[in-house]
Amino acid sequence: MSNSTPATRDLFAQYVVPTYGRFELQLARGMGTQVWDEAGKRYLDFGAGIAVTSIGHSHPRLAAAVSAQIGVLVHTSNLYFTRPQGLLAQRLVECVGAPGKIFFCNSGAEANEALYKLARKFGNEGTPPPPRHAAGELISSASNRTGILTMDGSFHGRTLAGISATGQDKVKKGFQPMVDGFRHVPFNDGPSLVSAVQDPGTVAILLEPIQGEVGIRPATPEFLRLARELCDEHRLLLLFDEVQCGLGRTGDWCGWKTLTGSDSLMPDAVSWAKGIGGGLPLGAVWISDKPVTLKTGATVPLCDLLGPGSHGTTFGGTPLMCAGALEVLQVIEDEGLMENARQLGPYARQAIEAIASPLISEVRSVGLMLAFELAPDFASKAHLPQDKIPSLFLVEALHTAGLLSVPSGASAVRWLPPLNVTRAEIDEATHILRSVLSQLAS
Ligand SMILES: Cc1ncc(COP(=O)(O)O)c(C=O)c1O
Repeated sequence: MSNSTPATRDLFAQYVVPTYGRFELQLARGMGTQVWDEAGKRYLDFGAGIAVTSIGHSHPRLAAAVSAQIGVLVHTSNLYFTRPQGLLAQRLVECVGAPGKIFFCNSGAEANEALYKLARKFGNEGTPPPPRHAAGELISSASNRTGILTMDGSFHGRTLAGISATGQDKVKKGFQPMVDGFRHVPFNDGPSLVSAVQDPGTVAILLEPIQGEVGIRPATPEFLRLARELCDEHRLLLLFDEVQCGLGRTGDWCGWKTLTGSDSLMPDAVSWAKGIGGGLPLGAVWISDKPVTLKTGATVPLCDLLGPGSHGTTFGGTPLMCAGALEVLQVIEDEGLMENARQLGPYARQAIEAIASPLISEVRSVGLMLAFELAPDFASKAHLPQDKIPSLFLVEALHTAGLLSVPSGASAVRWLPPLNVTRAEIDEATHILRSVLSQLAS
């Protein structure tokens, strides 16, 4: 680096809007589950860019697919048809295993925006359910239903509608008023969901089958089934946000199938991003083809409700991103990475549990989504300086020891390694965690 170029840290201080609380690490390159900082120090990457680099860093097949496509056709806009987008759509429909169609965008927040707009259109243009009797009263549905129920603790992205949908106050602070139409219900609380859907303006239930940002909290199969039944009964859409848990991380293309153990429960639409492109910015939504009767009397498949001119984005589904994502999904299949997630997720969980540290109170996991909860008395046991947040303190101590992991709120830490992580890498990460925890507790 020439003397006239400021250090990376100084470039950020002067030129990058400080929306992120960043760790003091300047990462320069990666390979598989390893990354190196600018000084050449090696880290095991058990964060994978927050569940993004699903086939690890610099996978030669992803590099080759993107390099080949970049020399052929990068971008055309969605004014035209391109083959990689069509092929990726076909592949994603196959991943869900039920007929439907795909909308492409650039991120998880944007994929969820498509879900909100689908629900609005369904509520405004679809026929409401017939009046029903409840508690001795005849209740008609609102003729324009716009209410979306989401869960306490959920995270759906940082757009204005995304933070409105998100069931955590901290993301809303300073940005009021929120977008109208979102109501939050306690996660995994059946009676609260039953009572919330009684509001005649309700049109959809949106949930993450496995809440990620709050530290890997899965929905119970009963809660998912109840949500499906209520949606059928009240003519609502069941929307799953699989941005973090989808496309292989749980050991299945569909996170909810890992939880329900069967193919029988199907949502009406699903959002994805993160791991879909192995690090390439891409989001997508699957929408089922179930028939919807419109107020005009016409019947259309739900996946055709967002018709021409109703929604879009310049970069959604470019040939470059789609060629890359197609290769990522093919690598996951060819290298047996969902099987790896099914085998090594429980292996990593047992390894963390076997540390038996008094600083960890609980380990939660589904496939290769893992979180460990720090003990309520972590601060005193680990002699935490007063201004330090426990999860950040531990994550920083792990950095010093050569391991990247991801904080979840103040009191949990996530491991979201690439799906091709090895047993040896899990052993190494566990060794680092064990020695850092024992140093902190001593
Ligand atoms: C479940 C879930 N939904 C949506 C998002 C937002 O995705 P993005 O950051 O790509 O907008 C995230 C990101 O963490 C997420 O975990």
